[in-house]
Parts: sequence; structure tokens; C-alpha cells
Amino acid sequence: MSVHVSPGAAASPPPTPVPPRRPVNIHDLRAAKERGEKFTMVTAYDYSSAALLDELGVPVLLVGDSLGMVVLGYDSTVPVTLDEMLHHTRAVARGAPNAIVVGDLPFGTYQDGPSQALASATRMLKEAGANAVKLEGGGPMVEVTAHLVRTGIPVMGHLGLTPQSVNQFGGFKVQGRDDAAAQRLLDDAVDLAEAGAFAIVLECVPSEVGERITAAIDIPTIGIGAGPDTDAQVLVWHDLLGLTSGRLPRFVKPYADLRAEIGAAIKAFASEVADGEYPGPEHTY
Ligand code: KIV
Repeated sequence: MSVHVSPGAAASPPPTPVPPRRPVNIHDLRAAKERGEKFTMVTAYDYSSAALLDELGVPVLLVGDSLGMVVLGYDSTVPVTLDEMLHHTRAVARGAPNAIVVGDLPFGTYQDGPSQALASATRMLKEAGANAVKLEGGGPMVEVTAHLVRTGIPVMGHLGLTPQSVNQFGGFKVQGRDDAAAQRLLDDAVDLAEAGAFAIVLECVPSEVGERITAAIDIPTIGIGAGPDTDAQVLVWHDLLGLTSGRLPRFVKPYADLRAEIGAAIKAFASEVADGEYPGPEHTY
């Protein structure tokens, strides 16, 4: 999705004028789906990564509650608090003037119903500067979504493997494998779209389910382990860049090996300090 382009560093010949960047909005995403243009969403948890992603033109940054696992070291997303999410969302929003910044509502801050959800989502927009919120689940979350949307808060849905329900699922497992479960996901997606959600994350579902849901609704689906036919794909920053250690889920493709790069850089620094090579005269006042 080419919503905006950064002026490059090239100096000559005189560059063709670049249209000024304008912030992406939720209608751009729907228009991208209509044009059949796939786009990406990437998670961000801090100012500098958000600024880089924004500069690179990534249209949607998700301050996911995966924050709890990849940044804060919890063993699931369940313990993440709204204050933790607000703190990190604020940093991301400061770094990303152009992308849509979506703040995840953490477990226990919206499941009680529309008024609890409105209070939490309002803080996410007013105090943290998010442009939208994401919440997990269908069923009762359809009415919650409708309430937030009526209030003027853009909502991204999340179906399939919804990690806040990991204790209910009995682990991080593919969802929607049998016909009845797939139909329930499809019905939830249609209901969320009718309630006014602007996009839906589909996590860990068979690719036929991703394809069926994507064809059935007008709003973009954003897949993570949902096959190639969703309208967009999302990956967690650490997984995408090869910063995660240990076994990776099947859907993760690391596009870099930053763990190795960082390891080499830290070793080089330590060894140059030990040898007295760093700092050299050029680094010294
Ligand atoms: O919290 C998160 O990062 C997410 C994505 C994996 C979609 O919900």
C-alpha cells in the first residue's frame, strides 16, 4: 500500500516533486482492499522503532499487548495492564505522525462491557494518542465494538487465536479447524464488520478460513498465521527482525538476523574496549 513516500536522499538529477505525506486513515485501508492492494502492519513498542517504521511508510503500527511477552518478559499477555499499554503507546504515537497507531486494550479492561471498554479506549486515545484500539473476540465484543464506534473510536477486531484467552484454549493452538468452529469465526467476522470495526486481525486459522472471511467482508483482514489470502499481514517486530530466541511459530518469517548482528556488534565493542582500541583519537575531545 503506497499511502505515502519519504523524500529520498538522492540529490541529482532534480527529483520529481514528491507529494507531501499525509497521515494514513482507516478509510485508506478499506480503499486499499477495494483496489486489491495488500499492506502491512508491524508491532511497535517504543519511540525509535515507531519513528523508523513511520519513515518507512508502514501504514499501521500496532502497540500489541505482545508487549507483555517480548518487552516486559511475562509468559503471556494476560498480566499486561492498561497503564503499561498507555506508557508504550504514548512513545509510539510520538514517533509516528503518519501511521495509524492502534493501541491494544489489555485483558480485563473491556470484557466487562461497553462502558468499561469506553473508559479504557478513551484513555488510549486521549492520554496515549492512539488513533484506534484493538480488542479480542466476537460474541459479546460485537456490542462493545458497536458502542465504541458510535462514540467515534475506531476499532480493530481480533479473531482466531486470541492470546488473552490462552487459558481457555489450553495453549497457543490453531483455531477454526472444524466446520462449526470455522463458521463461528466467519459469523463473528461478519458481525464485527457490521458493528463498524475498520479491520480484523485473524490469528492462527487455516488458510481456507482466512480466505473465506476475507471474501465475506468489506473491511480488511490482517493475517498472522492465516494464510496468503488476507488483505494484509502483521508480524511482531522481534519476530520479523530475528530478535526472538527459541522456537518460532510456523507463521513467522524472520527477514533479518538482528540477534546475530547485535551479538557481533557487542562482542566487537567489548573487545575494542578491552584492547584499548576504542575510543580512538577520532572519538576523543
Ligand atoms: O499483541 C499483538 O502483537 C497482536 C498481534 C500479534 C496481532 O495482537
